[in-house]
Amino acid sequence: MTSLVGKRALVTGASRGIGLSIAQALAEQGVRVAISARRQPDLDAALAQIEAAGGHGMAITCDVTDTDQIAALHEQIETAWGGLDILVNNAGSGKSAPFRSHPDALWHQMIAINLDSAYYITKAFAPAMLDQEYGRIINIASLASKAGGKYVAAYTAAKHGLLGLTRALAVEFAPHVTVNAICPGYVDTSMTDATIENIVEKTGRTSQQARHALEKSNPQNRLIEPDEVAAVAVMLAGHGARGITGQAINVDGGAIMY
Ligand SMILES: NC(=O)c1ccc[n+]([C@@H]2O[C@H](COP(=O)([O-])OP(=O)(O)OC[C@H]3O[C@@H](n4cnc5c(N)ncnc54)[C@H](OP(=O)(O)O)[C@@H]3O)[C@@H](O)[C@H]2O)c1
Repeated sequence: MTSLVGKRALVTGASRGIGLSIAQALAEQGVRVAISARRQPDLDAALAQIEAAGGHGMAITCDVTDTDQIAALHEQIETAWGGLDILVNNAGSGKSAPFRSHPDALWHQMIAINLDSAYYITKAFAPAMLDQEYGRIINIASLASKAGGKYVAAYTAAKHGLLGLTRALAVEFAPHVTVNAICPGYVDTSMTDATIENIVEKTGRTSQQARHALEKSNPQNRLIEPDEVAAVAVMLAGHGARGITGQAINVDGGAIMY
């Protein structure tokens, strides 16, 4: 098996949650990881954790909804490493609103962070992957990439779009660059904490009741842990996964089976 030691990865939205867990898991395999997010102090703390565990990388501030910042991120990585082997488009956000009173700004915000960002970042880094005839692109999608739910029209449309982008590029980038998506159910991160707070605010349920309701959407009756998503990302990044492309792998305890 060809190892991942020395490979170069970028994980967006990696100061906490799923992104940080993926960055840590890749670093454990000897991958050099560039982590990005908007807040520098959180990023510095995340990089310190990775380095304390023996990993190597760099922290680069970047709001993935800003194309100038994406260009600067690209330039910094090109200068330091000359390109990437692994790109994890993870940064995302999942805000909700009933459709009758849906703010237009929320629609555009959800499309920008969950879909446009992956388009622009992939457009920046994929050409060099294609030229070097090696690359792994992993998009962190969602069960909302495959099924609808109430009050999440914009997030669902964006995450369905992310799956469309994944599938189209998987065909276009064959044979050397693979493009896959991971579709988690509710994961125990600050994003799910915000969902719980929102349920409490809108329904008057306690936070424990709200959390149980989310747990029950998973047949295993629990939230997914970030490291379970990270384990799939490491698998997709590896040499053994070179025949897997255009796939959308659910990590949801069996909630959805397609
Ligand atoms: N949690 C779940 O239940 C769940 C389920 C399915 C899919 N997902 C997907 O998994 C991904 C990660 O979710 P998570 O639960 O780990 O979220 P999280 O805990 O809220 O972490 C989000 C990360 O993204 C960064 N971020 C947010 N907005 C950004 C922006 N505009 N530009 C750059 N970075 C930004 C955050 O740092 P800053 O705020 O400092 O920028 C943070 O590092 C998202 O794409 C989400 O849609 C999550």
